[in-house]
Amino acid sequence: MGRLADRRVVLGVAGGIAAYKAVEVCRRLVDAGAHVTPVLTAAATRFVGPLTFSALASEDAHVALFDGPDAIPHTRLGQQADVIVVAPATARVIAAYVAGLSDDLLTATLLATRAPVIICPAMHTEMWEHPAVQDNLSVLRRRGVHIVEPEAGRLAGGDVGMGRLADADRIIAAVERALTAPDLGGLRVLVTAGGTREPIDPVRFIGNRSSGKQGHAVAEEAAHRGAKVVLVTTTDRATTAGVDVIRVDTAAEMADAVFARSEEADVVVMAAAVADFKPSTTRDRKIKKSDGIPEVVLEPTVDILAELGRRKRAGQVIVGFAAETHDVRANARRKLEDKRVDLVVANDVAEPGAGFEHDTNRVLLIGRDGTDVDVPMSDKREVARAILDVVAPRKGMA
Ligand code: CTP
Repeated sequence: MGRLADRRVVLGVAGGIAAYKAVEVCRRLVDAGAHVTPVLTAAATRFVGPLTFSALASEDAHVALFDGPDAIPHTRLGQQADVIVVAPATARVIAAYVAGLSDDLLTATLLATRAPVIICPAMHTEMWEHPAVQDNLSVLRRRGVHIVEPEAGRLAGGDVGMGRLADADRIIAAVERALTAPDLGGLRVLVTAGGTREPIDPVRFIGNRSSGKQGHAVAEEAAHRGAKVVLVTTTDRATTAGVDVIRVDTAAEMADAVFARSEEADVVVMAAAVADFKPSTTRDRKIKKSDGIPEVVLEPTVDILAELGRRKRAGQVIVGFAAETHDVRANARRKLEDKRVDLVVANDVAEPGAGFEHDTNRVLLIGRDGTDVDVPMSDKREVARAILDVVAPRKGMA
């Protein structure tokens, strides 16, 4: 039996057409040896009968906060759960969870738990893309909730588009992952994030479009898995408790912050988009239009990643990023050698939905030890997980 054996899983089912697929998820969890408690919202019972779940699961399906013999079912369920998975999660359940509303058994149970929570959204494309839903999901990600992204395909009413509940395999894999003990406990991880800004004068700078999302996701995931994390970032993006944040602007400031801490780090992840060039002089007064068109002379910045490669001590793992528009694998391999790093996370920034500013990314993980992993288009937190999955067992790769 695998990781699910004898684990207590609360399976939340919200009211959407995909509720029928939760029956399959329930059966698979039970087959894997888990003790499954189904919790259906009132709307879910309009799509699929509680009896179906009761027949398959380890105990009867729960549908109401007040109707059963148990006076406080939500605290019992929340406290005893090893993991809670909500499949499908509707826009309403997601919003209620974000807001801390507990007006039914499922949302009350979500608030009454300290167990890991997995949310598997399913809804029509228009609803999925609505900023209200996307903003709510961002909040949940920041709180460490696992989101299993929906897929594109046939939806209710014959429509086709994004929003179909993730495949049962992906949901089960997410549950197994959430039940894994913190595998980075005690590890010291240094992460950089965001784009540096190289000042021309007090108001102008040379910058880039990096949002810092991927670096922040790596830092948050590492902290979630028990690592001691320092995040050197150029952004004001909020992060989870447990991540030690150092805010910088320029490549030089980032270099100072990184080199001051890299010696003691077991793993360094250079997710930041560091400027390759900076103005050779920075004016201390604003350049006026009336002075004519200024000439901005550039000079190289310090290549932090390459310097980390040179300073690398035995057992340290250095991860670099590569933003490429073509020949992604070949360029990643070259960077691996040139900068003497252990792993290159290469993304094709020309691909729609990947790279800068997006919430999703599609990357190739190319390692010195022969690692070659294609991470399909996923949430940046999911990409962070894939990176750390490669790094964790290789802690100590030469
Ligand atoms: N990097 C760095 N210091 C710099 C520039 C980049 O540490 N001054 C790091 C980034 O954090 C990232 C990787 O190097 O991990 C990205 O390399 P990239 O800028 O793509 O590499 P280049 O050698 O500049 O290659 P290219 O030819 O693509 O510009």
